[in-house]
Amino acid sequence: MKKVHFTETVLRDANQSLIATRLPYDKFEGALETINKAGYYSAECWGGATFDSCLRYLGEDPWERLRKIKAKMPDTKLQMLLRGQNLLGYKHYPDDVVRKFVEHAVTNGMDIIRIFDALNDLRNIEVAVDETIKRGAMASIAISYTQSPVHTMEKFAQMAKDMQKMGAGSICIKDMAGVMSPAEAHDLVSAIKDSVDLPVVLHTHCTTGLAFMTILKAVEAGADIIDTAISCFSGGTSQPATETLAYALKQLGYEVDLDEKVLKEINDYFKPIRDEFLATGTLDPKVMATDTQALNYKIPGGMLSNLISQLKAQNAIDKLEEVLLETPRVREDLGYPPLVTPMSQMVGVQAATNVLVGERYKNIGKEVKAYCRGEYGKAPGEINADLMKKALGDETPVTCRYADLLEPEFDKVKATLGDVAKNDEDVLSYIAFPQVAEKFFAERKEKEERKATYTIEIMEDND
Ligand code: CO
Repeated sequence: MKKVHFTETVLRDANQSLIATRLPYDKFEGALETINKAGYYSAECWGGATFDSCLRYLGEDPWERLRKIKAKMPDTKLQMLLRGQNLLGYKHYPDDVVRKFVEHAVTNGMDIIRIFDALNDLRNIEVAVDETIKRGAMASIAISYTQSPVHTMEKFAQMAKDMQKMGAGSICIKDMAGVMSPAEAHDLVSAIKDSVDLPVVLHTHCTTGLAFMTILKAVEAGADIIDTAISCFSGGTSQPATETLAYALKQLGYEVDLDEKVLKEINDYFKPIRDEFLATGTLDPKVMATDTQALNYKIPGGMLSNLISQLKAQNAIDKLEEVLLETPRVREDLGYPPLVTPMSQMVGVQAATNVLVGERYKNIGKEVKAYCRGEYGKAPGEINADLMKKALGDETPVTCRYADLLEPEFDKVKATLGDVAKNDEDVLSYIAFPQVAEKFFAERKEKEERKATYTIEIMEDND
């Protein structure tokens, strides 16, 4: 009987997709020991947004959060999402920073690091993968899924082969926009399964309503691990429900390790928390609904809402249809980048600019220029020659791995921070989110000083 493994996303992607990553540690702490004994393959608990939100909004040290989760969940593998050379952000970091970050993620408790690059340029993930393996964790390498004439099954299969050579412990198909159809999932999982001898993971979102069907067809084609969210934090822009898929797959004869009684306990724990977020408005019921627009326009839901609000702000919402027609042309001119952050913003803004200015590429965005220069990596297809000329003039684009041009940074930043940083983890938080970390360090210090005064007062009282 074929076994299907489950990765629970409530602590990361579900939290990020539904409530903008505003779930503080204290609120989910009480569920950790239960999640630990449910029978999950892994629990996703860290990524760019969780890290940022801890420092920016929740007053939490993300590293400390990771250590606390690890202590309460010794039996379930902890998992994070990493953007290769971009770590948790959108710019390229030098190799020494990437290695340090991965090292500390693993020593603080991470077991599986899912590593991807927005352009699927494997040069941008090789250092992170190498360090992950060196530190004894599993590198689950992800394909950023997209559709285009240059993204063929053969190319995806070849990518999977290259990822296996790099030392991948599993291959993840990452459908960040929830646009992968059941038929496409079936074909893609089959193609990857035929090419490599590794577990295949499917990550998708319910946004367009396809996810349950897509996962089922992926499992039928041999997918081994699926990402799901406990039911009260599932659906809409989040993952499909853990309990539902466990129930359906068991009935179809698949082996599932999850204990439904424990799943119920987890869901009972999170339900009042969900209701609280609904009551405060942090959870907008809209994001829990099905929205098929992404299928019509072939662009992710988040990108569409961004375009609409940008056009509204410019008093040009009447141009929406034109911009939506221009978007695939810009994407084609840029060599079909997957529409994931930061490419989705880049393509959307350039399409809107082309329409509003009334001439294609008269104004070219700074990011598009950097992309043409090769600073994000290699475009999946050819960049339009006219656009290249307009963007770069006589400048020659970079063809090497962009991070090869970057100087080591960690020791320099560490020296500059001095005792503001208590440890290497602080230095890494600062490198990832400088202003936010700085503010966090100052507030932390203030809290500690207040605590110290308080202790002295109590001692005096006892005298
Ligand atoms: Co996701």
